[in-house]
Amino acid sequence: MKLNKYHIAVIPGDGVGNEVVPAAIQVLDTVADIHGGVKFEWTYFPWGCEYYIKHGVMMQEDGIETLKSFDQIFLGAVGMPALVPDHISLGGLLLKIRREMEQTINVRPAKLLHGMKSPLANPQDFDILVVRENSEGEYSDVGGRIHRGEDEIAMQTAVFTRKASERAMRYAFSQAAKRRGHVTSATKSNGIPHSMTFWDDVFKEVSQSYPDIRTTSTHIDALAAFFVMKPHVLDVIIASNLFGDILTDLGGAIMGSIGIAPAANLNVERKYPSMFEPVHGSAPDIAGKGIANPIGQIWTGKLMLDFLGYEDLGALILSAIEDTLSDNVKTADLGGEATTPEVTAKIIEHVKRKANSPS
Ligand code: NAI
Ligand code: MG
Repeated sequence: MKLNKYHIAVIPGDGVGNEVVPAAIQVLDTVADIHGGVKFEWTYFPWGCEYYIKHGVMMQEDGIETLKSFDQIFLGAVGMPALVPDHISLGGLLLKIRREMEQTINVRPAKLLHGMKSPLANPQDFDILVVRENSEGEYSDVGGRIHRGEDEIAMQTAVFTRKASERAMRYAFSQAAKRRGHVTSATKSNGIPHSMTFWDDVFKEVSQSYPDIRTTSTHIDALAAFFVMKPHVLDVIIASNLFGDILTDLGGAIMGSIGIAPAANLNVERKYPSMFEPVHGSAPDIAGKGIANPIGQIWTGKLMLDFLGYEDLGALILSAIEDTLSDNVKTADLGGEATTPEVTAKIIEHVKRKANSPS
């Protein structure tokens, strides 16, 4: 069998990042061994707030150039709010990487895992993938404030380009083709008459190239309500930067805990590495206690496997996570008493068992 080697830059970062990243790497190495044709070479970078305190910068000067030579980036979390202001820590590392590596799409699944309890009263099985345009839209730098005081005026201009909108939409369609074949576009063309009618037009045009995929355009306010009332009807969602930001937090919430929510920042052209990082932050309140939930980071590892084309291995990890939750081996955020290493060991046990007895 041909051996494919992947060079992965690892940035555990701060707080619980240092606990959950090694856990996820153990799981990824386990599935790579089982497969036999995949090998990960992990290179650790000590960047983060402690690095900042010592060196006055969040990452080494040629950090971005260094990262460009890797296949992908696997990141834990960044932030030590008691010692370093968040805009410095996030801006100097996370946002810098996302921007310089042109990671223009943010992807977050929201799926009801077996063994998890959703805060929704009677959720049916839901499995949503939110694809968020991550580089422009409402989060633009265009605008300003004048006449400070009583006559003050603030203007903030949303920027939508055909290129970035299309790119994100095409990615959403490509994912729907592998799933249940349905894309919902989050719009608001009834209230935002220029950018959102443009968004609708581009969505219609792009959908022509995917005749097998069913499409719906839903206003963002109604769509937010659907996440609560009937999330099981949704498959892939394509959303602008702001709408996607809000929907992905809602998606994380209905899954049951931020400790399990995964995410990926993708460079879909694969010109530069993509970055895989869970939704949660460095959780300073529980850092160092060995009780951080590793599932968000491990599921994030599954997203990396999917992106590398090993969807079978990704599926193996997700089902081992579900078995572990169903065994009630859970960390404190899920109401359990297990430690980070205990949850990780149980997931690895299920991975090995499943690999030995394929159903
Ligand atoms: P947070 O996500 O770190 O924590 C929020 C709550 O969730 C806390 O109660 C925490 O204990 C809990 N939690 C988070 N991850 C968990 C896990 N794996 N297992 C169990 N419980 C978990 O968000 P917070 O407190 O607002 O931010 C803390 C720091 O993290 C700040 O510096 C913030 O800027 C940074 N941050 C970094 C992110 C990133 O690196 N992508 C994302 C969000 C926040
Ligand atoms: Mg957000």
